[in-house]
Amino acid sequence: MKIAVLPGDGIGPEIVAQAAKVLGALRSDGLKIELEYAHIGGAGYDAAGDPLPDATLKLAQDSDAVLLGAVGGYQYDTLARPLRPEQGLLRIRKALGLFANLRPAMVYPELVDASSLKPELVSGLDIMILRELTGDIYFGQPRGIRTLENGERQGFDTMLYSESEIRRIAHVGFQIAMKRAGKNGQAKVCSVDKANVLDTSILWREIVGDVAKQYPAVALSHMYVDNAAMQLIRAPKQFDVILTGNIFGDILSDEASMLTGSIGMLPSASLDANNKGLYEPCHGSAPDIAGKDIANPLATILSVAMMMRYTFAREDIAQKIETAVRSTLQQGLRTGDIAEAGKQRIGTEAMGDAVVQAL
Ligand code: IPM
Ligand code: MG
Repeated sequence: MKIAVLPGDGIGPEIVAQAAKVLGALRSDGLKIELEYAHIGGAGYDAAGDPLPDATLKLAQDSDAVLLGAVGGYQYDTLARPLRPEQGLLRIRKALGLFANLRPAMVYPELVDASSLKPELVSGLDIMILRELTGDIYFGQPRGIRTLENGERQGFDTMLYSESEIRRIAHVGFQIAMKRAGKNGQAKVCSVDKANVLDTSILWREIVGDVAKQYPAVALSHMYVDNAAMQLIRAPKQFDVILTGNIFGDILSDEASMLTGSIGMLPSASLDANNKGLYEPCHGSAPDIAGKDIANPLATILSVAMMMRYTFAREDIAQKIETAVRSTLQQGLRTGDIAEAGKQRIGTEAMGDAVVQAL
């Protein structure tokens, strides 16, 4: 297992160090794990003048999987856009063809009170947002800021989805729903679009419906994105797999993360057509708390579990990591972001050590 490790910026290096400890412990279980480090984001800019240095992309291309911390920091906010940390992330997704972004939102029984919603609305919540990651208005051309004849400036972007892009993400969605059905009963996909307004969405809805014919065991529904945003807060447990495009998925996945009350707990996977993947926590680089040993490393550690599940097809190891995380929560151990009154607060390092202990 050759893993490229890209700690990035802010709290990235601290949380990735804890995930690397977990990987180290798995090594003593007999897994042949090889880690190689490189810079991305602001760290890439500092080291090589580029948020995605060539050496980093090459390492990622030559590895079986990528573990990423987070990118971004105040000191980079004034750089020209091509040099900004997020560009490193967008470029590596595109260059590696990571079109399928899996963002689970689940509520751990131990953390049900961390949600801003009433416990009965979220307890047992376990949904999967599947976001298309390499198309849509994120990458569509033309885009830019132009000056009109009357001298006024105008910004423009292009929302684009080709049939093949929609088809391949839809297949992933139905397949994930079928796998999850074992646990949850009926396999369900809710495809989210804006087909009442956007032509891109009319095609999206048509193609998703067409792909669905190959998965008769999966119940497909369609929902407009504005309604989906509302339903996620009103009754989130009605969803199982939410299948959507890049921009809607960006927004809905942040919303869904807060249902769990603890963005510090949520991992993600971005997969290519061969299950090679980039794994990262859903949260950002949190520069305000960087270097203080208070960030929650669990989302990154759980991203390693997803890596074992999806890229290396080691469901056993994935569950072992997830069980270890559960056990630290059951012991009452909490980083500040998920601590209720009366629970012992521990730091980033100590949380990483506790997970390693529990493995
Ligand atoms: C995310 C982030 C990125 C995105 C940013 C940092 C470019 O918000 O991964 O959701 O918009 O995709
Ligand atoms: Mg986002």
